[in-house]
Amino acid sequence: MSTTPRKRMILATAIIGVNEHTLWEHPDAGSQTAFSSFRHVAQTAERGMFDYFFLAEGLAIRERARRPFDHDIAGRPDTLPVLAALAAVTEHIGLVGTLNATFNEPYELARQLATLDHLSGGRAGWNVVTSFDAFTGQNFRRGGFLPHSQRYERAEEMVATVQKLWDSWADDDLVADKDSGVFVRDANAGAYEHHSSQFDIRGQFTVPRSPQGRPVIVQAGVSPRGRDFAASSADVIFSPFLKLEQAQPFHADMNARAVAHGRGEGALKILPSANFAIGDTEAEARDKARHIIEQQLSPRAIQVRFEQVWNRDLSGYDLDGPVPEIEAETSPDAPQIIQGRALIHSDRAATVREWQQLAREKNLTLRQLAHEVIATPLDFVGTPSQVAERMDDFVQANGSDGFVVSPEVVPAGIDEFVDRVIPILQERGAVRTEYEGTTLRDNLGLQVPARVPARAR
Ligand SMILES: Cc1cc2nc3c(=O)[nH]c(=O)nc-3n(C[C@H](O)[C@H](O)[C@H](O)COP(=O)(O)O)c2cc1C
Repeated sequence: MSTTPRKRMILATAIIGVNEHTLWEHPDAGSQTAFSSFRHVAQTAERGMFDYFFLAEGLAIRERARRPFDHDIAGRPDTLPVLAALAAVTEHIGLVGTLNATFNEPYELARQLATLDHLSGGRAGWNVVTSFDAFTGQNFRRGGFLPHSQRYERAEEMVATVQKLWDSWADDDLVADKDSGVFVRDANAGAYEHHSSQFDIRGQFTVPRSPQGRPVIVQAGVSPRGRDFAASSADVIFSPFLKLEQAQPFHADMNARAVAHGRGEGALKILPSANFAIGDTEAEARDKARHIIEQQLSPRAIQVRFEQVWNRDLSGYDLDGPVPEIEAETSPDAPQIIQGRALIHSDRAATVREWQQLAREKNLTLRQLAHEVIATPLDFVGTPSQVAERMDDFVQANGSDGFVVSPEVVPAGIDEFVDRVIPILQERGAVRTEYEGTTLRDNLGLQVPARVPARAR
């Protein structure tokens, strides 16, 4: 009788920066920029046998009515120096950075990531993002730069070009033989050439082949174009789907797309972002979850989240008063009151009407409406064994291949998960008890892709 082998759970943890989920006012919250915070999270996750540590990227400070607003003030330091510093104080855990494919150049990204792969002994990964909006682009030389579809065209070219650069050195090109005086075997090592609609570059790449050959590619972005891009090029997808009814079809769709691109079943790993609240009893965990949501929905957060949809100044409305009976400002010439966040609701006018209707029916205040329509319930709430069991069941049911566990409090939020949930996951055989290999590809069970020499392209 054949049995389907149990899937091992892939685990990553993330510092996502300061946003509406982050409890930076929490008494246990530390700095979002001090190295000690990053080191604490990475080393604790390594103690918990996590596969990788992950950094999100924000390239612009969000604005409300042209002024920075609280959520982003703590800032986000640049990804690569943080990961390079972490490489020195960790041994096994992968180091994955979010880096934008729209605003960077392939030569510089290939060089930086290959360098991180060398420094870390093969633990580098790149989360390829294309950016949410033109507002971010204002910080870059080309301004707003590229509509959605062309951002993916550039991202596809970017990844193909970066991989070409990584493949430009053969494994044995760097000889450095002191006796014979031969440093590089082939004078053409690192030679590359790439001409396309996006890039027109040629030269010799300066970084010899890195331990993983090609650092791991992660992709976040779920439009049809984003899915095809991931299916052809990514090793891992950072997905937003954590409800089984959405996650299973997404998992199946992505695997089918990967197979259609000639890739083997299981070549693509899917990891949704997940958070948790743990208690000694289920009731205590629910209390904690409720408290987390109350802290997330601070008066300021409620105001800016609603202003994002109404596109009007709502600072004069009492949160404990009625929901404003005004329409969303949708005229094309109207300035955006909130800048620098993804527009979640594509039809603002309809969303506002729907919310007003709901408030009338249930007699809700603005604050109560926020709890109904803005609050995002925590994903795994319960005792350590309930959390472990539900996470494991989700993976076994092909909801995903694992999770990016993202606690709201930096840096101490991950401790409880590692101390209380990981041992149970290990007992269930869902999480390793020792690292098997040395590279991020080893952690993830991914093959090293064959190098494509320049002549073969
Ligand atoms: C789960 C998830 C995480 C993301 N994280 C980031 C990020 O840290 N930085 C960033 O600039 N964009 C981030 N993005 C934006 C995507 O890269 C992409 O630009 C955006 O989702 C639009 O692409 P799409 O229409 O294919 O979803 C994220 C997207 C998703 C779905």
